[in-house]
Amino acid sequence: MKAVVFDAYGTLFDVYSVTALADQLFRGRGNEISQMWRQKQLEYSWLHALMNRYVHFETINHHSLTHTLNQLQLAYEPEQIASLLDAYHTLNAYPEVKNALQSLPPHYRLAILSNGTHRMLKAVVDHNGLTDVLEAILSVDDLQTYKPNPLVYQHAVNLLHTPKEEILFVSSNGWDVAGAKAFGFEVAWVNRLGKARDELGVYPDHIVPDLRALPSLQS
Ligand code: 2OP
Repeated sequence: MKAVVFDAYGTLFDVYSVTALADQLFRGRGNEISQMWRQKQLEYSWLHALMNRYVHFETINHHSLTHTLNQLQLAYEPEQIASLLDAYHTLNAYPEVKNALQSLPPHYRLAILSNGTHRMLKAVVDHNGLTDVLEAILSVDDLQTYKPNPLVYQHAVNLLHTPKEEILFVSSNGWDVAGAKAFGFEVAWVNRLGKARDELGVYPDHIVPDLRALPSLQS
């Protein structure tokens, strides 16, 4: 392995860290909001990609949040939407992330490959003090499509100048794991929530509960 490429949301950063703010803004509904918002956000990314009507992830985040609040019949002010969207810039990294990345052998090149825009990713990486740990932050925004389009995974190969066989891709999202494995990466699924595996005909090479197990996967 020459490089380790990480998914961002759900893998390094906890998308459910917006729950407390959502709960404060919409009393007692934070959990429902954050779960539905994340699910709709992903659906919208797949649908926009399939329709060949790309809009960037900040817009998808906005539209999926609006839909969620409407679906839950919650009245809202524009400022409440703005503060929830803004919270994506300060999502918490999972507690083990920084140490785990720092304990990987120094010759590994570390990068993020995410649906997020450069602006969103830079903000959340800076917020969590990971800027110096990562060599590159790669965004689908350069390609105007979304995971799991194989073009997205190829983008990492191109920009890191590293063959796919020499890249370990790490994601907690089962559908992203399948996309990356179908493309040809070696893949580690971070099954943080003890979920059943996705049945998409391609399966991860490694399953780990969190990133602390990564150094022992070296091949
Ligand atoms: C990503 O960061 C959406 O979690 C997905 O690309």
